[in-house]
Amino acid sequence: MPQTLLKCTRCRASYPLDMAALRCGECKSPLIVEYPLGGQARAGPQPPGWVGSPIPLPIRYPSSFVSLGEGNTPCVALSAVGEILGLAKLHAKLEFINPTGSFKDRGTAIMLSMAKELGVDEIVEDSSGNAGASIAAYAARSGIKAHIFVPASAPAAKIQQIRVYGAETHLIEGPREAASQAAEEFCSENSLVYASHNLSPYFIEGTKAFAYEVSAQFGPDLPQHMVMPVGNGSLFIGTWKGFQELQMAGRVATLPRLHPVQAEAVMPIVAACQEIDWAPGPGARTIAGGISVGDPPRKQEVLHVLRSTQGTAVAVADPAILRWQRLLAEREGVYCEPTSAAAFAGLEALMETGAIQKGDTVLIPVTGFGLKDVPPL
Ligand SMILES: Cc1ncc(COP(=O)(O)O)c(C=O)c1O
Ligand SMILES: [Zn+2]
Repeated sequence: MPQTLLKCTRCRASYPLDMAALRCGECKSPLIVEYPLGGQARAGPQPPGWVGSPIPLPIRYPSSFVSLGEGNTPCVALSAVGEILGLAKLHAKLEFINPTGSFKDRGTAIMLSMAKELGVDEIVEDSSGNAGASIAAYAARSGIKAHIFVPASAPAAKIQQIRVYGAETHLIEGPREAASQAAEEFCSENSLVYASHNLSPYFIEGTKAFAYEVSAQFGPDLPQHMVMPVGNGSLFIGTWKGFQELQMAGRVATLPRLHPVQAEAVMPIVAACQEIDWAPGPGARTIAGGISVGDPPRKQEVLHVLRSTQGTAVAVADPAILRWQRLLAEREGVYCEPTSAAAFAGLEALMETGAIQKGDTVLIPVTGFGLKDVPPL
């Protein structure tokens, strides 16, 4: 019987489902879950509380699911902010309503469910803060021990959130990449599983549910554009994978154009698109800490998604991000963290270049809650 497998995103080599398999043994590229029969894949058991039509997932046993009621987040119209931009059809999907306050929870739910199914009882993760908090929470719920490596410069509230769930918290000096390196070293020294949410193919299986929810909320008239803050691209790639499955199943005709937004100080995706000579410098800093990723391992996949949906990558400056954070709070009552506000600064830039027109329908995920990333007084 054909089986669900892990496939290399580059050379298409395949591997059995395994928690430790993060990169292709042949070419070292990241892996993705592939179901037998592609779009006709049979949806198996679903996490408790996930509403809407069932989606293909790699989990075989209902008892494996670890869930905190993630997903099914509301979509609201942003008429005041839309008016500022001259955009009549602007919607936000309030991802900060997820159980740990960010979009990460669908991805974590599936990654930790898979860990439980495969009998893993201790994991290591590195994060700019939100994924670490999410994994710490779901690890607590499932009885899995978590080590979270996080930059010492991460917002205090995110570090506190990781700690309060009881995860062993390792603060690492230096840039975001130093936390990844320390986590990998810790894994090999202690023979532990590296549950990197950026590399894990299961995390993307969770984030793809975002597309299924959008499809259920918008029906056949999907938004024409989705604008997202992108660091490693887990939501960006997951959304595309979800829409692709829906398209192959004949349930979606045209995919939205997916536009990634980055910070001017850290913009590997934008540089690759615009063929700008750019390399991450040691001093490159932005207030949008969630997208401060100089060399994302899934960069080629992000580029593939944006090209195939005819998206445009844009970079935005910190003052514009702060301006939009304030505008969203003051005009709409939506308090998001700076990383999330970057998407709105990106929308403004995309309207200026004409990539998005005034009559278009736009959806933005508001990815993280404002209180998670507050500058010290
Ligand atoms: C609030 C927020 N938005 C967006 C992102 C970007 O997500 P990704 O790195 O998966 O592209 C992050 C990542 O940490 C985040 O914390
Ligand atoms: Zn390969």
